[in-house]
Amino acid sequence: MTTTLVTGIAELVTNDPQHARAGASEDERLLGLLTDAAIVVEDDRIAWVGGARRAPDADRRVDVNGAALMPGFVDSHAHLVFDGDRSAEFAARMAGEPYDGGGIATTVAATRDADDDRLTALVARRIAEMRAQGTTCVEVKSGYGLTVEDEARALRIAREFTPETTYLGAHVVPSGSDRAAYVDLVCGEMLGACHPYARWADVFCEPGSAHAFDGDESATILSACRDAGLELRVHGGQLGEGPGVQLAVELGAASVDHCTYLSASDVAALADSSTVATLLPGVEFSTRSPYPDARRLIDAGVSVAIATDCNPGTCYSDSMPFMIALAVREMGMSAAEAVWAATAGGAQALRRDDVGVIRPGARADLAVLDAPSHRHLCYRPGVPIARTLEV
Ligand code: NIG
Ligand code: FE
Repeated sequence: MTTTLVTGIAELVTNDPQHARAGASEDERLLGLLTDAAIVVEDDRIAWVGGARRAPDADRRVDVNGAALMPGFVDSHAHLVFDGDRSAEFAARMAGEPYDGGGIATTVAATRDADDDRLTALVARRIAEMRAQGTTCVEVKSGYGLTVEDEARALRIAREFTPETTYLGAHVVPSGSDRAAYVDLVCGEMLGACHPYARWADVFCEPGSAHAFDGDESATILSACRDAGLELRVHGGQLGEGPGVQLAVELGAASVDHCTYLSASDVAALADSSTVATLLPGVEFSTRSPYPDARRLIDAGVSVAIATDCNPGTCYSDSMPFMIALAVREMGMSAAEAVWAATAGGAQALRRDDVGVIRPGARADLAVLDAPSHRHLCYRPGVPIARTLEV
């Protein structure tokens, strides 16, 4: 057992409401902000949090020299197991082509062609990139295999890196397959092969895409996965209003992701549920689409997370600081709301209480900023100020 005292913290984002002082501003309350703070880490856990002057002794000391310290980012939505390049599709979109999910087939072909070592190395490189920018917890989906063997392989590889693995056999109907037969496969043999490596199941529920799944197909798939013991999340409301949000709420999904297009009753249903709305602003950036309205959701009382959705089609960025900057600039969020959504919000979307927070007992998953305050994450867009702090 080794204890480490971290000192020199100009601003500490704890996300722990217990630190809200009387007279604290809204930002201070939301982020449980402490100034001139210290923490003690014992092995991989937080052991103590408080003012620097009251800090206990420890075996080692790390001085962060006036930096801001915060929980590592929780990226609750990423598709990292893929090979291939779709930069031409990106260029076409910048020239005005709309996104409809059809390009997924290109990635499926390239991913099936890659051997296990190559795919593992690609995932490792993407996760290293994320850690270098302050992400300490990531969810990883399958969805570019779409055969029993290729989906199970993707999840087996993802499991080497994270416990937050998601079965997304229902990403699209593979070209040449009969829809009903493919839904049966996803609910049957494919689910059986993937289940040992997955915590979650997800569906691309988007009646507006000819490639994705409609409300009835999505309900069938999500129910089968839930009955098999997987917890649920849903891709919904990306290209237009649709049944994904209501379905996610009805089936008790932890999160419904995208939420770019929402009806008034979608917002009301979310507000009345424990389902998190996960917003993915890198997708709107990379598909040249209108951004979701985070303000409308937050004002209605919905829990909001932000994540990267890192994937080769709609957003090939794994940078949570970039998502925070977009959320503030384009989605009506304050810096504090965006930072909360990228840490505590992501944790809630993954039903985790040991990440996204700095309090005794939580994992010592830390991000340090080369800056004195969390506001710099949107004030200095594109500048690599965030990194994981290894203690
Ligand atoms: O979340 N929308 C569905 N799936 C991904 C995109 C996948 C792709 O185009 O490769 C998303 O945006
Ligand atoms: Fe996605």
